[in-house]
Amino acid sequence: MTNSREVARGAYPETRLRRNRRAEWTRRLVAETSLSADDLIWPVFVVDGDGRREPVASMPGVDRLSIDVLIDEVGKAVDLGIPAVAVFPYIDPALKTPDAREAVNPENLVCRAVSQLKAAHPGTGIVCDVALDPFNSDGHDGLVRDGAILNDETLDVLCEQAVVQAAAGCDIIAPSDMMDGRIGAIRYALDGAGHEDVLIMSYAAKYASAFYGPFRDAVGSSGALKGDKKTYQMNPANSDEALREVAMDIDEGADMVMVKPGLPYLDIIRRVKDAFGMPTFAYNVSGEYAMLKAATTQGWLDNDTAVLETLLAFKRAGADGVLTYLATEAATLLKRG
Ligand code: PBG
Repeated sequence: MTNSREVARGAYPETRLRRNRRAEWTRRLVAETSLSADDLIWPVFVVDGDGRREPVASMPGVDRLSIDVLIDEVGKAVDLGIPAVAVFPYIDPALKTPDAREAVNPENLVCRAVSQLKAAHPGTGIVCDVALDPFNSDGHDGLVRDGAILNDETLDVLCEQAVVQAAAGCDIIAPSDMMDGRIGAIRYALDGAGHEDVLIMSYAAKYASAFYGPFRDAVGSSGALKGDKKTYQMNPANSDEALREVAMDIDEGADMVMVKPGLPYLDIIRRVKDAFGMPTFAYNVSGEYAMLKAATTQGWLDNDTAVLETLLAFKRAGADGVLTYLATEAATLLKRG
C-alpha cells in the first residue's frame, strides 16, 4: 500500500492519462475543442458562362463554376449546414487593366454572382474579397506605378470596390490587399453609402506566402503577376508585427480578423486570439489544400482523417472558423459522424 502523501504526488503510476482515452465515449467527453459545419466558410471560384465547370489543375477536386452551377453547389453546402461562402472571380484577361477598373463595375462577375447567390440562398452569408489582383493587368492587389504598389491611391479604388459589392448583396467585405489604412477607409465608405450593417472581416495578418500559388492559377492572376507581394504582405519571419496589424484593423473597425495562411501560422492564430479575443478566422489556403490532396490522392495519407484533423487544429489554435476548400467535404464527413 502506498501512503496518502505518495498518492497525492499526482504522478505515475497513480495518475494515468491514458484512462481518459480508453473509450470513445470518454474521449468525446473530455475533448477540449470540436469542429462543426458552423465553423466553415467555403471559398468558391466563379467564371463567366453557363453550365461551366473548369477544373483547377493545381487544386484537385476544385472547379471554377459558372453562376448557374455555383448556385446549385452552394445549395448543397447550405444543406450541409455551412454558414457562408467566399466568392472569388476568374476574370477574362481582356478585362484586366492597369487601373483595375473592372473591380468597381457594379455589373462585374463578382457582383452578378453575389446578387444571384443572395436571391437563391438568402440565408447564407456571402463574403467578398476586396483587392485588385483579379482585375489588375499587373496581378497586384494595389495600383502599380513604376513598379511600386501605391498605398493611398489604391484605397479609393478599394472603397469603391467594397461599395459595389455591398450594393450587390455581399454580407461580409473581406479586404485581402494589405494596404495601410484600408479598413478605416472602407468602413467609412460603406457607412457613407448606407451599408452600415455590412461586416468587415479583415485579412489582418496576411503573409507573403508561397502557399497562394494554386489560388493564383484558379483566379488567373499568376500569369499577370509581376514580381512578388513582399512590399505589402507580411514577412513570414514576423509575429509581433502581426499583433500590430490586427490591433490597427480592430481600431479601424474590423468586425472579424483573419490570419493567412493557416497551418504554417497556427502560432499567430493563438497569439491573436489570446491578445484580442476577437472573432478570429484562419484561411486554410490553396497551397495547403494542394499539399493535402497531393498526398491523399497518392494514398500517402488517409484523406478523411487528415481533412478533419487539419480543420480541428485551427479550432485548437483558437480560431472561431476556417475558410477552407475542404468545407463541403468536411461537412459531409461530420454529418456522417
Ligand atoms: C488576393 C487573395 C489571395 C488569396 C486570397 N485573396 C492571393 C494573394 O494574395 O496573392 C489566397 C487564397 C489561397 O491561396 O487560397 N488578394
